[in-house]
Amino acid sequence: MSNLGAQRLTGRVAFVSGGLRGIGLACVERFLAEGAQVVLSDLDAPDSELARATLDRLGANASYVAANVTREEDWERARALVAERHGRLHILVNNAGTDLTGAVETLSMRDWRRIMDINVDGVFLGVRTFTPLLAESGGAVKGGASIINVSSIMGLVGYSEVSAYNASKGAVRLFTKGIAIEFALKKLPIRANSLHPGFVVTPLLREGFQRWVDKGVAADPQVLVDAMCAQTPMGRLADPAELASAAFFLAGEDSAYMTGAELVIDGGWTAQ
Ligand SMILES: NC(=O)c1ccc[n+]([C@@H]2O[C@H](COP(=O)([O-])OP(=O)(O)OC[C@H]3O[C@@H](n4cnc5c(N)ncnc54)[C@H](O)[C@@H]3O)[C@@H](O)[C@H]2O)c1
Repeated sequence: MSNLGAQRLTGRVAFVSGGLRGIGLACVERFLAEGAQVVLSDLDAPDSELARATLDRLGANASYVAANVTREEDWERARALVAERHGRLHILVNNAGTDLTGAVETLSMRDWRRIMDINVDGVFLGVRTFTPLLAESGGAVKGGASIINVSSIMGLVGYSEVSAYNASKGAVRLFTKGIAIEFALKKLPIRANSLHPGFVVTPLLREGFQRWVDKGVAADPQVLVDAMCAQTPMGRLADPAELASAAFFLAGEDSAYMTGAELVIDGGWTAQ
């Protein structure tokens, strides 16, 4: 029987951090379209205009918890909400993240700690918080529970004036491999893989380009877009939905034999 048109995540519950914008929002939308129930978190207050409008649009299978990924107590609130509303969890996308650019000698300790806090500690806390529920729930679905940690091409290769972000995303890559092996050896029904986007058109990328313009690196953001396209073999930037497709693949049974792996979605950028 063909699976075309079927909702492939029906009966599954997903949690996506940083789910109000960019890649996280695209994952939320894709998981909902595939029949999952989704809890998304972000920094915005639940009664903010964006949170309310987004939740109205997403419909009854989506719910929201305001949670800063760097705060243990926020993760505990998120865990309580998922437990109360669904009692199970099959998919965890640790997506919330931020960037930092600048020559290494100009980076402050505060900026360094902030990016490690969000990009590394945030992923660790998400995994630690939800591992027991994923372990309990994973045995009931084909392919088991799935953790998708969003790294970057910058977690695979170095780039000038991106060293702190490089370090944070490299940590996500190896942390993911560590937990993947740990879960597999303990026969826990949880797979863990890292996702490595190239340049994706999101608020993060746009704000990053604007900062480079403000620093005088380029006259306007389009110059930077053109430069990124020129560096990318496929000659264009990615749409967030293309990352959500990869996350959907990692979330469900089609990737059942995949754990501790890296899925690179970069238009050929790291193949050069
Ligand atoms: N856009 C790209 O080109 C690109 C490339 C490679 C990797 N990534 C990674 O993909 C992920 C998503 O990036 P994006 O481009 O969609 O970014 P984005 O800024 O458009 O969206 C990220 C979301 O995370 C939220 N967030 C930030 N800090 C948070 C915190 N402390 N707690 C909770 N939520 C927080 C933001 O409010 C935002 O809604 C990030 O981990 C990023 O590093 C992005």
